[in-house]
Amino acid sequence: MTRHLLDITDFTVEEIGTVLDLAEAPVGSLGAPLAGQGASLIFEKPSNRTRHSMEMAVVQLGGHPIYTRGEEVGFDTREPVEDVARIMAGYHALIAGRVFEHSTLERMVAALDADGVDVPVVNMLSDWSHPLQAFADALTMRQSLGDLPGRTVAYIGDYANVARSLTEVSLLLGMSVRLACPHGFDADGAELERLALIGSGDVTQTTRPHDAAEGAHAVHTDTWVSMGQEREKEARRRAFEGYAVDASVMAVAADDAVFMHCLPAYRGFEVTADVIDGPRSVVFRQGHNRMHAARAALAFVLDRPERRPVAHGEGGGS
Ligand code: CP
Ligand code: NVA
Repeated sequence: MTRHLLDITDFTVEEIGTVLDLAEAPVGSLGAPLAGQGASLIFEKPSNRTRHSMEMAVVQLGGHPIYTRGEEVGFDTREPVEDVARIMAGYHALIAGRVFEHSTLERMVAALDADGVDVPVVNMLSDWSHPLQAFADALTMRQSLGDLPGRTVAYIGDYANVARSLTEVSLLLGMSVRLACPHGFDADGAELERLALIGSGDVTQTTRPHDAAEGAHAVHTDTWVSMGQEREKEARRRAFEGYAVDASVMAVAADDAVFMHCLPAYRGFEVTADVIDGPRSVVFRQGHNRMHAARAALAFVLDRPERRPVAHGEGGGS
């Protein structure tokens, strides 16, 4: 069965542990599961970390990454998403997408699975989730804090793609998650019920950042204005007033607490400069871990004994 990576919940607790271990293994030790093969990386939105970490991860696994902007393939304008996936699966051993709509990735998976084509689809950020970020977040917390079960994560700000995947991976790893989000930008009742069923950790939500951060071991945030929401910038900045992670928030966290942010960060808004540039910030290690986590996650989905070495048959024809 093809292993796609659309959400961190596509992986079991044990599999997440394996990926984190692989991420810490020496770069060359994962072999070359992509030797002689390509990886299609399609971006409907801008990127620094995800593009570079994925391109380098593909190279480190022996493959050749090809970057394409979304407007070039034209999902559902130039041709249907399904046709893009079917064609790319004939050239590449892996298709990864940064998309506006999560359903774009689900449609790729459905088309390839229906055709019996063994090419994993990887989510490089959608409106719903950001699982590659979550692997790097978990790796960074494990390196900073040691054993994660029983530790507490505080997430302060917009409950969006990054927060969702962070919450999911933290719960799977047995951590307690405390969300602090303003009304309207929080996890709704159905989402909290869904989260309550994930893993062995527990999740609570408040509107008060200091309550969430009290005694927490990792304090996370993300931008208040995600890609595609630029027109809402001023309204969002007003809605999130009082939700900046500042020195007073970090002061109530545990003594060994770290500050984390997926980046890009907007100093003076979701985090103050003294916090993100201060001694408890691990954001650059977290950012660099994106490459190690990506390499490990790709190796995990690709390097399976039952995988065929070539996507469509053994050469000519289709
Ligand atoms: N954190 C993250 O996904 O960064 P980029 O948008 O730069 O890829
Ligand atoms: N929530 C942000 C994350 C950026 C990595 C966005 O979607 O733009």
